[in-house]
Amino acid sequence: MRIVTPTSTLRDWSTSDAARIVKYADNPRIACHLRDAFPSPYTKEDAERFITFATGPGRHLYLAIDISGEAIGGIGISPLADVKHRTAEIGYWLAEPFWGRGIATDAVRSLVPVAFERMGMVRLEAGIHSDNPASMRVLEKCGFTREAVHKKAVTKNGRLLDEVVYVRFAEME
Ligand SMILES: CC(C)(COP(=O)(O)OP(=O)(O)OC[C@H]1O[C@@H](n2cnc3c(N)ncnc32)[C@H](O)[C@@H]1OP(=O)(O)O)[C@@H](O)C(=O)NCCC(=O)NCCS
Repeated sequence: MRIVTPTSTLRDWSTSDAARIVKYADNPRIACHLRDAFPSPYTKEDAERFITFATGPGRHLYLAIDISGEAIGGIGISPLADVKHRTAEIGYWLAEPFWGRGIATDAVRSLVPVAFERMGMVRLEAGIHSDNPASMRVLEKCGFTREAVHKKAVTKNGRLLDEVVYVRFAEME
């Protein structure tokens, strides 16, 4: 898949992206806002494992955020299972040198219609750690609303945080 946004191109991951992922993802200022499945330090083996999963079978859609042929971040839609099969989580990260240029906002804005129209999702959600106002702002700019605060739901790097749940729904007749 290839989606051109105003500031980047969203495209499939490739095995040749591994070195770039390590260069940018090996950053505790990124990992601290993500699940522990996004490790810190982030090794080449971690990148290769991720690319194998991202490009493998499954209902998920994980794309690289690409500028000038270089993967500088990632964005993904992960459908849940069972009775929540039309709910999906949206997640994303961006290399620190590229923060503050609207790139994540453009990526989320461009992927939301894919989740609703092509993947058949009805509800998109993201659980943001309470110490991550930049990510909350990205979602607000993309039409998500704050649905709930799950108090003390997250322990990250030994710190107890609230999880702020943002949602956006497909427009249905
Ligand atoms: C969160 C992240 C994806 C944002 O990417 P980005 O491309 O810099 O985001 P954008 O430029 O599109 O928008 C950021 C918005 O947050 C705002 N912002 C940044 N830091 C902020 C802060 N400390 N408090 C409040 N708002 C803040 C910016 O001003 C901007 O809003 P504006 O356009 O109204 O001015 C990026 O910082 C990142 O990868 N962080 C680490 C990983 C992460 O947090 N992923 C999301 C996990 S849920």
